[in-house]
Amino acid sequence: MSYTVPKLEDFSPSALDAAARDLKSALQSESAAISSEADWKVLRDRWMARKNGVLTLLNDQWLKAAPGPAKREVGQRVNEVKKVVEEQIDAALVRVSSAVSASRLEQERVDVTLPGDRRNLGIEHPLIRTMNEIVDVFKRMGYSVAEGPEVETDYYNFESLNFPPNHPARDTQDTLVIKGQQGKPLRERLLMRTHTSPVQIRAMEKQQPPIRIVVPGKVHRADTADATHSPIFHQVEGLAVDTNITFCDLKGTLDQAAKAMFGSSVKTRFYPSFFPFTEPSADMQISCFKCGGSGRLNGERCGMCKASGWIEILGSGMVDPNVYGFVDYDPKKYSGFAFGMGVERIAILKYGVDDIQLFYQGDVRFLRQFA
Ligand code: DAH
Repeated sequence: MSYTVPKLEDFSPSALDAAARDLKSALQSESAAISSEADWKVLRDRWMARKNGVLTLLNDQWLKAAPGPAKREVGQRVNEVKKVVEEQIDAALVRVSSAVSASRLEQERVDVTLPGDRRNLGIEHPLIRTMNEIVDVFKRMGYSVAEGPEVETDYYNFESLNFPPNHPARDTQDTLVIKGQQGKPLRERLLMRTHTSPVQIRAMEKQQPPIRIVVPGKVHRADTADATHSPIFHQVEGLAVDTNITFCDLKGTLDQAAKAMFGSSVKTRFYPSFFPFTEPSADMQISCFKCGGSGRLNGERCGMCKASGWIEILGSGMVDPNVYGFVDYDPKKYSGFAFGMGVERIAILKYGVDDIQLFYQGDVRFLRQFA
């Protein structure tokens, strides 16, 4: 910045014109040199600050220094110059701020032709999918869906299902109990439900027959996790109670469900079993859908059914009349059947999964196969 306000010796109009011209051209080049708002503030202060700004110095060095007769002439020049300075400084601000916003726009420019970020679509987890498929099979047969709590009382999980206190059938369930319950009567003690069967009782308490429900849900057992066990797994329970329900209804319903789930060519067979809440009880097996029930696949023994030709998929039975005693159903009037199956087991069979833990690890490489 080379311009400084000169002291004037000569106050003639032509000398004043020359001095004004010098000042204006300095102003012009200084304001042309700035490119930011910060530069502009420096420029404004240099020219217009009350203290030591160029305009203030003009007053001191030109106007006040002018001899009496020249004052009028000098005053006019100074006013004219002031106006030019103010206009130029204002114009400089307009120029830098529009330049700044133009460059900001340039930086923020969006190329709408670039490909977007792809977000992978999620899928239903294979276990939830299997569970929903099972539930849908029964919904199509007129069943409705019921659910119950995972933290249950001993009463719903065992006693009302005809597991008497200290009965050895309780031992097969590897129950996880909630701590600090010893002070309560046994039936009120809390535990993690070991099966979805307690929802049978809860549903029968709420409504009289006819009842037809399926119960999907999570269950818990004190099992160490390995390729075939998980302390948390899923079941789908079923219950149908009405007048004149017989073992034929149980067989027909579950045979139909097995065909809907595994294909219409599968056969079913029922094997004697034991559950405290059903009498008689039966495990249902399906003919192996891999080897067609022959036990052999391409001349080798079939791994799916361990060469037996049959695969066990659920437990079932006619509701034990003792159970009706807990829910105010008249056992002389009504009869019914119940069943329960493991969702993991069915998903493992359907999809040929060799380690149950894969369902819980959330590894996208595994899950992607179900997309
Ligand atoms: N609750 C049994 C279990 O977890 C499975 C079961 C068997 C449920 C027979 C039933 C049934 O409703 O009738 O081992």
